[in-house]
Amino acid sequence: MKKLLVHLDTSSAPSVFDRVVAYDAGADEVLSYGGVTADSVRDLVHGAMFTRGPKDLHNTAIFIGGADMTAGERLLAAVQKTMFGPLRVSVMLDSNGSNTTAVAAVAKLAQTIGNVKGKRAVVVAGTGPVGTRAAGLLARDGALVTITSRHSDEAKHVCDAIKARFGGDVDATVVPDPSRVADTLGNAELLLNAGPAGVQLVPRDAWMNRHSLRVVADLNAVPPLGIEGVDVTDAGTDRGNAKAFGALGVGNFKMKVHKRCIAKLFERNDLVLDAESISDIARELVQSVPQASSVPPPG
Ligand SMILES: NC(=O)c1ccc[n+]([C@@H]2O[C@H](COP(=O)([O-])OP(=O)(O)OC[C@H]3O[C@@H](n4cnc5c(N)ncnc54)[C@H](OP(=O)(O)O)[C@@H]3O)[C@@H](O)[C@H]2O)c1
Repeated sequence: MKKLLVHLDTSSAPSVFDRVVAYDAGADEVLSYGGVTADSVRDLVHGAMFTRGPKDLHNTAIFIGGADMTAGERLLAAVQKTMFGPLRVSVMLDSNGSNTTAVAAVAKLAQTIGNVKGKRAVVVAGTGPVGTRAAGLLARDGALVTITSRHSDEAKHVCDAIKARFGGDVDATVVPDPSRVADTLGNAELLLNAGPAGVQLVPRDAWMNRHSLRVVADLNAVPPLGIEGVDVTDAGTDRGNAKAFGALGVGNFKMKVHKRCIAKLFERNDLVLDAESISDIARELVQSVPQASSVPPPG
């Protein structure tokens, strides 16, 4: 029986990236729908639920993508509400690559530092889909997280949403331009840039050789890169006092996580893959390969 991935995208044009990865991860067909909203999704979900018997339903799965994380979360809730009893298919949320990218980035940070609990972490431009998920996962694991934003209203709104969704210790600070980011780093041990493609947000002087920093990661792959002095291919590279990860250094693992998640969707019919469960899958992947030892704290 064919493995069918029903791709529900909240953006008008379904993501090419998500379609390609789905095929590479083992889907036989990807049925993509664009402009899907929580109000319009019920009949699409019925089409997935009612076509195959319960014992075959693990061959159908739903993937939710699109540029808007909040719309994706609403869609996930609507999809789950529509399914009942054994008539369900597995579903994964990854709006804008937010969950898989954030999970991969946090895994690299945590793997390098050992344990993030009680450590200060700054997520620069942490109000986008990737930054909010990364901040939430770090907070859930006990890090003391600060997200930055250019706007105080947005910073507060997103910070409240992260705390409501993940719990933990998160605050927000306004950084109107890159010349002010150093003030925010303080004694942070972890630094993640989650700003948009092609915008440098952390100048070299703000972070390089800062005594407290042990690991930095930049998710922007498009020059100028987000953290000056971190190369796009860095993968645990020594930069100043810290280990550095560039967008490709994180992205390679993100692709592994994304593909593994798609494959898992077809193993059973009741999986719900969101940030936490995707994080568990990443942990399994990390444990399946030998890792380099973590960086000791500054002495
Ligand atoms: N490596 C990978 O595998 C991978 C996969 C997916 C995404 N990514 C990358 O991950 C990063 C984050 O993605 P995203 O979709 O979450 O980002 P995003 O929503 O485009 O941007 C994140 C935040 O950056 C701030 N921002 C926007 N334009 C700005 C500008 N011109 N100057 C300063 N700040 C600006 C905004 O926050 P405020 O308005 O609150 O300041 C925005 O909420 C991107 O660089 C993306 O390319 C990497």
